[in-house]
Amino acid sequence: MDDLPLTGHVYVPRLLTDDAMAELGTLDRTLVVGPEEPPSRAELLRGVTGAAAVICTLTERIDAEVLDAAGPQLRVVANTAVGYDNIDVSAASSRGVVVTNTPGVLDRATADLTLGLILAAARRIAEGDRFLRHGTPWTWGPRMMVGLDLSAGATLGIIGLGRIGRAVARRARAFDMRVLATPTRAELDEDERASIEFVDLPALLRRSDVVSLHCPLTPETRHLIDREALRLMKPTALLVNTARGPVVDTDALVAALESGEIGGAALDVYEDEPHVDPRLLAFEQIVLTPHLGSAGDATRSAMCRMSVANAVEVLAGRPPLTPVS
Ligand code: DGY
Repeated sequence: MDDLPLTGHVYVPRLLTDDAMAELGTLDRTLVVGPEEPPSRAELLRGVTGAAAVICTLTERIDAEVLDAAGPQLRVVANTAVGYDNIDVSAASSRGVVVTNTPGVLDRATADLTLGLILAAARRIAEGDRFLRHGTPWTWGPRMMVGLDLSAGATLGIIGLGRIGRAVARRARAFDMRVLATPTRAELDEDERASIEFVDLPALLRRSDVVSLHCPLTPETRHLIDREALRLMKPTALLVNTARGPVVDTDALVAALESGEIGGAALDVYEDEPHVDPRLLAFEQIVLTPHLGSAGDATRSAMCRMSVANAVEVLAGRPPLTPVS
């Protein structure tokens, strides 16, 4: 990265999927491509200097400093993620830079993982796996490792009934779960209107056996699940987070698990990612995965191709496919 072009290149701080990289190779632009791992801040600032487009991922913080380092020729920041809390959108807009994301293409993969996590936590799958790996002696027993039966009328509470939340609701209905959700602006179909009960947040927390988070991270949703929210949940309830780590106050979650205020959790995202608070690792009743929500082969390819397509459109002077505002 020492011989950076002076202006107008496309900066891709992290290697995207092969098909997206091949697409980028056809552009009539110099490409500056980083490795698979996230760049350091210094590498990011260097790589962005003089860029006309940045095709980044959720691990790159794109703020005023980065935008200024890029310079006035920067036209687009294309995020390879639906969430864009890593980008200061108002700083970008005030500099005339378009910000895009990848909505829609990862709904099903994220909903699939959410159901996997719900099942893993409810039916103690990860715990059972650890139990056997530790060589624990066992025999089948009527009271052995009994968990929550989703299909015996368990209630799922969805916070954030957007695209992903709706895909989770559809899957939950296939498991015969009752579905509650906080009010949404999404246009629902007839089936959804008939099968989902809308309640306010405290009622959802009180009534759900599983609470699943699908809201974006914004100043309003940071620590939405705090000590008070956790106290409202059933002592047997499970909290599932495939949205963004800071939606949950980790200290409050640890306290609620320690005191038995809730029954367990399944987390795919963390407050200070990629750091996972070591206190979480100590609980048997937590399932943990490393931000795998969209990690399906077809999905990752679709996300990467979409962020490339957004950058291509803006560089060609056309409107972006999926601008964030
Ligand atoms: C997103 O797109 O925001 C997801 O978190 C990536 O897995």
